Amino acid sequence: MREVRPTQVEWLRGILFLAETGQWCDDKRQEFILLSDTLGVSMLVDFINCGSGGTATESTVLGPFYVAGAPELPMGANIVKPGTPGAPCAVSGTVRDARGRPVGGALIDVWQAQGDGLYDVQKPDGANARACFRTADDGRYGFRCIKPVSYPVPHDGPVGKMLHATGRHPMRPGHLHFKIAAPGCETLVTHLFVKGDRYLDSDAVFGVKPSLVVDFRRRRGGEYEAKYDFVLKPAKRKTAGSRR
Ligand SMILES: [Fe+2]
Repeated sequence: MREVRPTQVEWLRGILFLAETGQWCDDKRQEFILLSDTLGVSMLVDFINCGSGGTATESTVLGPFYVAGAPELPMGANIVKPGTPGAPCAVSGTVRDARGRPVGGALIDVWQAQGDGLYDVQKPDGANARACFRTADDGRYGFRCIKPVSYPVPHDGPVGKMLHATGRHPMRPGHLHFKIAAPGCETLVTHLFVKGDRYLDSDAVFGVKPSLVVDFRRRRGGEYEAKYDFVLKPAKRKTAGSRR
């Protein structure tokens, strides 16, 4: 406030904007996380807490479309229901710890937008394009999905007004979301981005890191394939001075 020195009218406009942001929130839509994401606040908090990643896989925003308790599927299963728009894609790789040892039994949560750019929670058809998997003893994981597409963040509410007012587009480059948890390791929240996507340099939520950009190669038969090996940091030790 000292820096901006708003008039009382401007102050009230700010209050009403924040109140409206809250009024758009329900169990399916989290406009406040979206506002935090599109202002770059979420990525700043991520950087303050997770740093640059070092030798471990870098993190990025959780985003507003994570849903806890997605169905757990066997290795190799498809996370999208039949008839879902999008190009078929296979994703595989390994999960290792900071010393390079395979992490077996890690819980991998994966979720993505469908080929029409919408997440299941934005549609009436129930859970789709999200699932959990467990890594094998040798750290391997693998599943089928659709090739991620670029999509606009919801911009029919307060966040859309903010983007419009600041001359920004609402697009995100195509990506797959991951949340990977294993005992003894720090939980990793990240994305894999599609190499060559036109929005990699102007992600509406500032989430892109070069180490997370992956080649989604087209194989014979039209299916895409991506491979990525994740590295988890060791769990933080609790110290006497740490916050509860
Ligand atoms: Fe997303």
